[in-house]
Amino acid sequence: MNGSAGALAQARPADLVDPFGRVVGDLRISVTDRCNFRCQYCMPAEGMTWLPRSEILSFEEIERFAKVCVERFGFESIRLTGGEPLVRAHLPQLVERLAALGVDVALTTNGATLRMHARPLADAGLSRINISLDSLRRDRFLELTRRDELDRVLDGIDAAIDAGLAPAKINTVMMRGINDDEVIDFARFGRERGIEVRFIEFMPLEAGDVWTSAVVVPADEILAAISEVFPTEPVQRANEPAERYRYLDGGGQVGVIASVTKPFCDNCDRVRLTAEGQFRTCLFALDEFDMREILRSGAAGDDLDDRLADAIRGAVGTKWAGHSIGQVNFIRPKRTMSQIGG
Ligand code: GTP
Ligand code: 5AD
Ligand code: SF4
Repeated sequence: MNGSAGALAQARPADLVDPFGRVVGDLRISVTDRCNFRCQYCMPAEGMTWLPRSEILSFEEIERFAKVCVERFGFESIRLTGGEPLVRAHLPQLVERLAALGVDVALTTNGATLRMHARPLADAGLSRINISLDSLRRDRFLELTRRDELDRVLDGIDAAIDAGLAPAKINTVMMRGINDDEVIDFARFGRERGIEVRFIEFMPLEAGDVWTSAVVVPADEILAAISEVFPTEPVQRANEPAERYRYLDGGGQVGVIASVTKPFCDNCDRVRLTAEGQFRTCLFALDEFDMREILRSGAAGDDLDDRLADAIRGAVGTKWAGHSIGQVNFIRPKRTMSQIGG
């Protein structure tokens, strides 16, 4: 891009449109591949090898990349993920830098250390938080996460609410024969605490070999079970993977994320950056685009921004229509969920 075109793009963000006409405007950034849990479906109990520090993007590099997304392409939201994002030191500093770009900054966490982090994150400008919680039973939580931390997570949820991180939402991955007997318990939990629980269909990105289509609990089934006990009506859907429902008795909202049975791909506006700076245009993408190489190329100023913008545009030009989970042509990406950030 020449200098004057770059200046024009900076002055007025241009839409970043993929080959299927979808406008891309939501960036998910994984800030670490590490985690303080070892969820069965995500990581082995021992023997994980982590990325060396030098391979992980610095806060300056992340901020630079995000700035290009916001200033050149008008991105409106950024979500920080992991691994577990709160194991990255000084995360509020990154939140502050990103919030200063004028975007909505959100976080998805396992919640274990939220009591300590919720207030500094809120003060730094974090606007929303999603907390993963797959069981409300202590023994099962321990079995699933290999950590006896249910009470800490529950306290972390309270801490998030106390810190004003609203709306705080709970992500519950439903797995047949593992935790699908807790649907009503979770619905009740959400109603009692005034938080939205989202039931998620299990996707084939786990580190072990948990996934078969038999593990997936279809979102329609979950919703039917809930509605039988607590009647619901649909809420107008925003551009997000979750479908939301309102309890007719005023008990709040509940959501389902039907990534397998009803993919959100037709409306997908997302791209992702891994902890080591690989850009992915789909959770299930097989190709990655190396942004770290550009960030560390020695280019500076507008030249660096132009190069990043060109690379982003080029990558988005390859975004596919959607995943093909459950079909014969589905190929599982080499990366696991914890390396992509969900
Ligand atoms: P909100 O902004 O609160 O709607 O967050 P979110 O639901 O988009 O993000 P979160 O990190 O809480 O993820 C919830 C579930 O949605 C996880 O299982 C993610 O893996 C899944 N998810 C997020 N983005 C995508 C996506 O682009 N495609 C698919 N298939 N699943 C996604
Ligand atoms: N399928 C669906 N959701 C998953 N998550 C982790 N692994 C899977 C999977 N295989 C969820 C986590 C977290 C979010 C980032 O992704 O529970 O809430
Ligand atoms: Fe950690 Fe999340 Fe993976 Fe569990 S699912 S091990 S909390 S990254």
